[in-house]
Amino acid sequence: MTSPDLHHLRPDFVWGVATSAYQIEGAVEEGTRTPSIWDVFSHTPGRTHHGDTGDVACDHWHRWADDLDLLVDLGIPAYRLSLSWPRLQPSGEGELDARAVREYRQLLSGMRDRGIRPFVTLYHWDLPQELEDAGGWPVRRTARAFAVYAGLVADALGDLVEDWITINEPWCASVLGYALGVHAPGRTDWRDAVAAAHHLNLAHGMAVADIRASNPAARIGVTNIIADLLAADPQRDAAAVARLDALNHGLFLDPVFLGAYGVEVHALLDPYGLSEVILPGDEETIAQPLDFVGVNHYQQVIVAGAPGAGPAEVSERPGGSRHTSFGWSITPSALTRVLVQVRDRYTSLPIYITENGASFTDYVTPDGEVHDPERSEYLSGYVEAIDAAAADGVDVAGYFAWSFLDNYEWAEGYDKRFGLVWVDFHTQKRIPKDSARHYGSLIRTHQQAA
Ligand code: NOJ
Repeated sequence: MTSPDLHHLRPDFVWGVATSAYQIEGAVEEGTRTPSIWDVFSHTPGRTHHGDTGDVACDHWHRWADDLDLLVDLGIPAYRLSLSWPRLQPSGEGELDARAVREYRQLLSGMRDRGIRPFVTLYHWDLPQELEDAGGWPVRRTARAFAVYAGLVADALGDLVEDWITINEPWCASVLGYALGVHAPGRTDWRDAVAAAHHLNLAHGMAVADIRASNPAARIGVTNIIADLLAADPQRDAAAVARLDALNHGLFLDPVFLGAYGVEVHALLDPYGLSEVILPGDEETIAQPLDFVGVNHYQQVIVAGAPGAGPAEVSERPGGSRHTSFGWSITPSALTRVLVQVRDRYTSLPIYITENGASFTDYVTPDGEVHDPERSEYLSGYVEAIDAAAADGVDVAGYFAWSFLDNYEWAEGYDKRFGLVWVDFHTQKRIPKDSARHYGSLIRTHQQAA
């Protein structure tokens, strides 16, 4: 495999891998941890593929030291992880659980001892069920609860972490969870989803203020999933692209980076109650100054107008001619376009690609290895696409491959393997795939040239 030319990336470019707590930790009944919305959803019959749950997942909670050693062996210098809210603050309010704080401190110290730089996500979808029972993200109180939690965590762990991501993909947490019902908590009401979206934005803004109050040196960003949207027919479908763009991106990026929801977002979502949930001062709260922006990128999508339920009324199909086992497009140039658009439309802050990766039908061959040339090629293509954005003047600061380990892919369960490291979910054996070594060599090549 040829090595891509990465000479536009900054010398201190951050190379990492990413995971999230519920997808890897397991140990769901340990200590005082309470169920999150994902424990409840995944244990509800019919909600997830094969009824898979995160009860055990990668058992990382018990194996983190070996997993961190593996990161060192693979030559991966940064690691984006999330913290489990119901582990740290079981009822979603009040003091943090001392044992959970101690254990996360050990994990984070373990990273620092090994020279691995942590990027910590505070909310990667595991809302304590008690807060959902009290109304969940559609109620304003949840935003305040999150900010208080974030401030307490920044206080308890801030000496070990510099880089914080408040919320991961508020689009998934609101639209998939409250309108489409395919993610926890499984509700299907667009008004709830719109209220949830606003309160997730508000939670982000309030949390930034509370984290800075606890930990003035913190560097803080928020992560959104950003697809590259193309019109099926440029004349006929431009309006459909604009609608989907407003719903998937504008709803979250406009208030954070431009200070207010845009006209397009209001036109689409006022019929679903957007203006009703925005109180005076909210937009100022949401638009807190940030230190970086996080982009998760997975897809190029071809969009056409179509009748349908809900605000957007579009049909979507994957772009490109090659696809992952999820059916998502493999189109590296889409990432270049996304990065340029974020810079042109929203911000000149440094951008971290906080997730990008692919599921393929991996398997262990008789030699005991996992040969995944498609994933190596995928990684080369996408990091080259980042280099192209850097050549265009975009300040790209780092890249985190999704994911470190094969893990619990939410409603899709364990069949979709995104890891650079194979996990045998019966024995918990880890086998670095060929792509893990390939990624390590990409990193070394860039570091040696820098
Ligand atoms: C984005 C999410 O943040 C992550 O949790 C998920 O596993 C990947 N996309 C792949 O779908």
